[in-house]
Amino acid sequence: MGNAEFRADRHPSESYEDILERDTRTIPDHLRQGPTRNLGEEGIPVTNYFDPTFFHKEVRHVWLKVWQWACREEDIPNAGDVFVYENVGKSLIVSRQKDGSIKAFYNSCLHRGRKLVDECGHRSTFRCKYHGLAWDSDGSFKHNPIKWDFPQFEGKDMSLPEVRVETWGGFVFINFDPAAKPLMHYLKPLADHFDRYDFANRYKAAHVSKIVPCNWKVMAEAFMESHHTIVTHPQLAPFLGDVNSQYDALSDYVTRQFTATGVVSPTLADRNFGDIDILKAMEAAGGSHVSGGHSDKDGVSKKVNNARDTPDAPMTLEQGVTARMYACEVTRKSLGDEDGWDYSQVSDAEIIDALLYNVFPHMSFWAGYAPNVVYRWRPNGLDPDTSIMDVIILKRVPKQGPRPKPVTEHRLGLGEDWSSSPMIGALGPVFEQDMENLPEVQTGLKSSGTGVVHFSLYSEMRIRLMHKLIAQMIAEGEAKVGV
Ligand code: FES
Repeated sequence: MGNAEFRADRHPSESYEDILERDTRTIPDHLRQGPTRNLGEEGIPVTNYFDPTFFHKEVRHVWLKVWQWACREEDIPNAGDVFVYENVGKSLIVSRQKDGSIKAFYNSCLHRGRKLVDECGHRSTFRCKYHGLAWDSDGSFKHNPIKWDFPQFEGKDMSLPEVRVETWGGFVFINFDPAAKPLMHYLKPLADHFDRYDFANRYKAAHVSKIVPCNWKVMAEAFMESHHTIVTHPQLAPFLGDVNSQYDALSDYVTRQFTATGVVSPTLADRNFGDIDILKAMEAAGGSHVSGGHSDKDGVSKKVNNARDTPDAPMTLEQGVTARMYACEVTRKSLGDEDGWDYSQVSDAEIIDALLYNVFPHMSFWAGYAPNVVYRWRPNGLDPDTSIMDVIILKRVPKQGPRPKPVTEHRLGLGEDWSSSPMIGALGPVFEQDMENLPEVQTGLKSSGTGVVHFSLYSEMRIRLMHKLIAQMIAEGEAKVGV
């Protein structure tokens, strides 16, 4: 795939880099503009979102070939702890070993296939609940209560089959493909950029997941551009540089988008929003740094209230202090107060902006020093018309004191709102606005009169790249099948 520098027409307003130039701290090199891709203008068939044959190929040639995070290391801290990870109809037991390493086994009894482990927890032995065959937590065969009737098992390797496991940043990744390249082949350069954020020393402060009535790509795409803000999330536009966003394709597998917080959307240029208006909009958004990955309960409301002498007094800002500067300073202080770390020299962008890195095909990690949001999108079993979205929030382990325990996942059903989970605070209503679109997209795709969807050249470049890679993997996989 070509990597030529591509200067598509950008929104005529200032760029994200222009906004950074006014910031108050040194800008790290890795936040500077990266490469883009010229991926053409061709439409994508709508059938890629619902056709069972396409979905079957996607499962076979994409999902069973890519690295995917299954859990956090902190979910299985002790020997014998297990996590059950499921995707595209496959179930895995992710198991902490006595030597601290991690293995993953197909969650299927070698007798007649019953799942060996039904739920996450602690298992020193995987004993099948059907006829009692058992394996040690390292996958070695332990016991067969009906040994007398299975001469065919004698002398055979009855260990549980394993899948590949690698770790990064406290995440446990699995890959069904024994021939897959190492995880780092896919994570670079994200892993280099994230060194400074030390994700291994963050803990899971929130984890909410939800089944959504749309194809997994429809859902992923809703979080891969920010120009839907003005229509879908109009309450955010007064403090979000949506169309100023920067989009980069750092490799085939790692893309990113940077969106500034604390500046007004250029789409509202005719409204004459001032800095106080921006702060008021942040306050009204409900106390969550919805655009930049913060989710602290005190949030923006408290921060903006600090701009007043009393709660009822008019907000004021000192001469020369912008809303963005003010929000950054208050956030630096509140983060430091919460975890004891010093944020005085951290760049403005890494304090309040939306710095979303995506790893093909389905993971998104928010960079920066504030609580980091992590997304994961995947099919709901083998149904092309529904999917599962996970939202986790990682917080920095406090400088002093013990490491906080991670939360456990709160799974929402089809009919439950994100807002019903207190863990993600004011992010909930924003996600609900996204969710209103998604089933309508899935239905609309099936009603298409042209048979194709289109992506914009710059802002939706990352979405097009995802589709290109899926098509490429399917084509290569099918060619091998045909050999
Ligand atoms: Fe597991 Fe029979 S299916 S022991």
